Amino acid sequence: QKIVLAYSGGLDTSVILKWLKETYDAEIIAFTADIGQKEELDGLEAKALATGASKVYIDDLQEEFAKDFIYPMFQSGALYEGQYLLGTSIARPLIAKRMVEIARKEGATAIAHGATGKGNDQVRFELAAAAIAPEIAVIAPWRLNEFRDRFPGRAEMIEYAEANGIPVTASAAKPYSMDRNLLHISYESGVLEDPWFDAAAPENKDMYLLSVSPEDAPDQAEYVELDFEQGNCVAINGEQLSPLGVMDKLNELGGKHGIGRVDMVENRFVGMKSRGVYETPGGTILFTAHRKMESLTMDREVMNLRDSLITRYSTLVYNGFWFAPERLALQALVTESQKNVAGTVRVKLYKGNIIAAGVKSPVSLYNPNIATMEADPTQAYDQGDATGFIHLNALRLKVSSGVEQNNK
Ligand code: ARG
Ligand code: SIN
Repeated sequence: QKIVLAYSGGLDTSVILKWLKETYDAEIIAFTADIGQKEELDGLEAKALATGASKVYIDDLQEEFAKDFIYPMFQSGALYEGQYLLGTSIARPLIAKRMVEIARKEGATAIAHGATGKGNDQVRFELAAAAIAPEIAVIAPWRLNEFRDRFPGRAEMIEYAEANGIPVTASAAKPYSMDRNLLHISYESGVLEDPWFDAAAPENKDMYLLSVSPEDAPDQAEYVELDFEQGNCVAINGEQLSPLGVMDKLNELGGKHGIGRVDMVENRFVGMKSRGVYETPGGTILFTAHRKMESLTMDREVMNLRDSLITRYSTLVYNGFWFAPERLALQALVTESQKNVAGTVRVKLYKGNIIAAGVKSPVSLYNPNIATMEADPTQAYDQGDATGFIHLNALRLKVSSGVEQNNK
């Protein structure tokens, strides 16, 4: 039997690797998706082999992540519960997709992951896998009594790791859990479980890896120009970049200016509330600039319709329905809505803020001749027409107000 394990090299998935191998007497293929977690990948292959993996895949999926996952999602304007840019949520379907591809190629019958039975990630991995490869079984050790009995706490895991020659790294000692990729870092659990714990306090600033605190950001503001085509950012400051290049560049700029920190209590799909702290420097600039580009170029009713679907779209991504038919149908509408979203947005980055500093487009729908308070040379709008427009719109208000007064 072969099992493909989503492996990060951290304490949990290292212990799980060894435990799966012993418990199922199986060959374990360790798989790590490189989706921009940067230095966390150093030495990973050697570590997986030393822990007992028979084969290791470390696949660079960064460009695919940016182009086929982050970009289509940003076209939609997705934002979960008004704050969360879905950095972890959007990565899970890609990891699951690659994992089942490897399983098929290797003739593995199961995939395994280290997500807990209380979280969103288990749902996202497994719904994505089900949508792509329903024949492949899933092993989620944290949902198995025998695993939880064997490892009731961190101490037992550390002991097991040491007994099996698995090096326990400093990150296992951090008083919170992290998930990093090209779009964000999330911090959860541990000290953060108390929502009164002040993660923005100066003494806690070492937690953040992608951004400085706004108070430590440069006193000098910095201008950035983003070029859009079909709702996708294609260049920064005039330099053409791939989606991955754009994300890297915006992360650097946003991080430098303390952009994109969020601290919230959110609703998990499984029914509980959970406190999360996020750093999304580049994504926050992209999100804001994209909306500004739309303001100049998007038809009002198309925007209304798309906006009415943002909550739906965001919830689908959050809940793990990326590969579901309704997300694909929504995406078709979203992508169609972006056809005319093109031009350049200029913003000013300053101590955690993204300040509007100009927008232009060769396909702008904004016509200053029509909107002007001065005489309109085009005569496209006759102010006298507004009288009838208001009368007709007022008609039903007058009728209902009359009825109310008669009934007093
Ligand atoms: N709460 C966020 C979400 O559900 C982040 C989850 C972080 N996951 C993790 N394994 N640390 O998308
Ligand atoms: C986990 O429970 O594995 C991490 C948090 C989440 O998935 O929501």
